[in-house]
Amino acid sequence: MSVFIRDIYQMPQGQEFEDFFLIESAEIKKHRTGEPYLRLIISDRTGTLPVLWWKPPKDADLTIFKKGDVVFISAYVEIFQGNVQPKIKSMRHAQEGEFAEDKFISKSRFDIEEQFTKLLEIIETIKNPYLKKLLEVIFYDDEISSAFTKAPGGKFIHHASIGGLIEHTLGVVEICEVVAKRYKSIDRDLLITAAILHDIGKIHEYSIKIAIDRTDEGILLGHIYTGSELIAKKIDEIEGFPKELKMKLLHCILSHHGEYEYGSPKRPKTLEAVALHFADALDSKVKGYEEHIERELGEEKGWTKRHFAYDVPIYFDGEINYE
Ligand SMILES: [Fe+2]
Ligand SMILES: [Fe+2]
Repeated sequence: MSVFIRDIYQMPQGQEFEDFFLIESAEIKKHRTGEPYLRLIISDRTGTLPVLWWKPPKDADLTIFKKGDVVFISAYVEIFQGNVQPKIKSMRHAQEGEFAEDKFISKSRFDIEEQFTKLLEIIETIKNPYLKKLLEVIFYDDEISSAFTKAPGGKFIHHASIGGLIEHTLGVVEICEVVAKRYKSIDRDLLITAAILHDIGKIHEYSIKIAIDRTDEGILLGHIYTGSELIAKKIDEIEGFPKELKMKLLHCILSHHGEYEYGSPKRPKTLEAVALHFADALDSKVKGYEEHIERELGEEKGWTKRHFAYDVPIYFDGEINYE
């Protein structure tokens, strides 16, 4: 049975464990005597953990352990100044096929094909011919649709799973439908189109090898830019696409993070843009809480540690209501 990092944090001093983990960082340090030791940050899909290889064998080559490697670690728990910091007894690289992929990355709990069908059905409901055409041009492109259905919604904060992007997109679309019904001045077709496309740039933002990682494009350009660029290009392929509609749609994409400090080059200045921003924040935050509970507590009742991004501990009553 797999040993997950969330369980190691609960283990008592001295408890032994062994399993496969991913190296997030590796640093060779020196004891006062000059002997080398290794300080690693390891991870799996439930979190990260610092570990020390305090007394590696004298002939061990510590330089071969690098970020991105999967290793088999045998270790025991040490609690140092109140913090869990296990010590490694032995470690080796994993062979291909030796470990289960879902140790490092989770899958959306929704069926991806069903979700894609749902997305195509929503596109059918768009009445504005230009917006409908745009969505068809984008989602009937095999390369885009296959990337879109596999992509995660994030690396760690929310929807960090295969299929996370489409799950998040449909979540935002559903919230926007409710908002569009309630506020009659909202252009429903524009809002739903913007909701479907708001994170399309994430198909280039992450790579999935062993775990989810950000690509160079993701780090240097980000999904707001790459998404807007893709949408603008596709719009320009459609004859007669109204200029103002293009501007309003791109404004929704460019402002969906709401504030400059969250990477938004623009703040929302239309009804559709402000609705999209809060629908996006609502879906990502609730899901972010849910994933933090899953990582830290599984199905146990209790408190999580402080969330690294939302900066609060989260209480969970242990009840799971998935249908
Ligand atoms: Fe986004
Ligand atoms: Fe989003």
